Amino acid sequence: MPGPIGIFDSGYGGLTVFREIEALLPQYDYIYFGDNARAPYGGRSFQTVYKFTLQCVRHLFEAGCHLVILACNTASAKALRTIQQCDLLHYGPHYRVLGVIRPTTEIVGRITRTGCVGILATPGTVKSESYVIEIAHFFPEVHVYQQACPMWAPLVENNEHTGPGADYFVEKDIRALLAQADCIDTVVLGCTHYPLLLDKIRRYLPADITLVVQGRLVADRLADYLRRHPEIDAHCSKGGQRVFYTTETPEVFDEKASLFYGKPVQSRHFSL
Ligand code: DGL
Repeated sequence: MPGPIGIFDSGYGGLTVFREIEALLPQYDYIYFGDNARAPYGGRSFQTVYKFTLQCVRHLFEAGCHLVILACNTASAKALRTIQQCDLLHYGPHYRVLGVIRPTTEIVGRITRTGCVGILATPGTVKSESYVIEIAHFFPEVHVYQQACPMWAPLVENNEHTGPGADYFVEKDIRALLAQADCIDTVVLGCTHYPLLLDKIRRYLPADITLVVQGRLVADRLADYLRRHPEIDAHCSKGGQRVFYTTETPEVFDEKASLFYGKPVQSRHFSL
């Protein structure tokens, strides 16, 4: 039986991707699942991120999804490959899990003119080297410089992203990235929480540097994927429904999520 498309993130950040997916593909049913009670994932070990992500993906499958998007770079970097190569084997042939790193790395080499790309991401994503490996796969001539931003996702999760404290960390980490090489002309926001800091990021990033934000890219790639895979598309229901789950208290989630989502949200609690 067809089911909703699952969108997973450690917390609120995936809403920045979900917003774009929903705008491009409004006809599908969706379940958004934020593991807010255990966010942020960015500083956690490979084993923990894998274990948490798999639990959430299983929940989405049990809720009827056949296709799940990990709208989280940290989970895409640390859990996606194992889930795709090992865990999906236990499900039927029409179950898929896709991430957000591939759609970004596939195009970034066509944006840079200097061949120098900067990545701003969580410590976990940086440590995994996923961006370095994937960009080298598509564009071997491109140089990749990474900067971990350990405070950015926690600032967003704690609704502190508009205050002056956030300015301090955003400026500091952008400076550290740009200090690595003069030639950086393209910077990827490699964490789905970061678009919520966009105003501050733009303030501290020189205007001639191109900023790559993932939401629209991921939405475009998903639309393309569903066109190329009618057998998966047939397992995605199209009734325009949206359901939100959180591992946090729904009232807490709803208040913040509607700020990030731009519309009222009424979530249900799910305990793992
Ligand atoms: N939004 C996530 C990402 O794209 C994770 C942030 C976190 O939980 O630390 O990496």
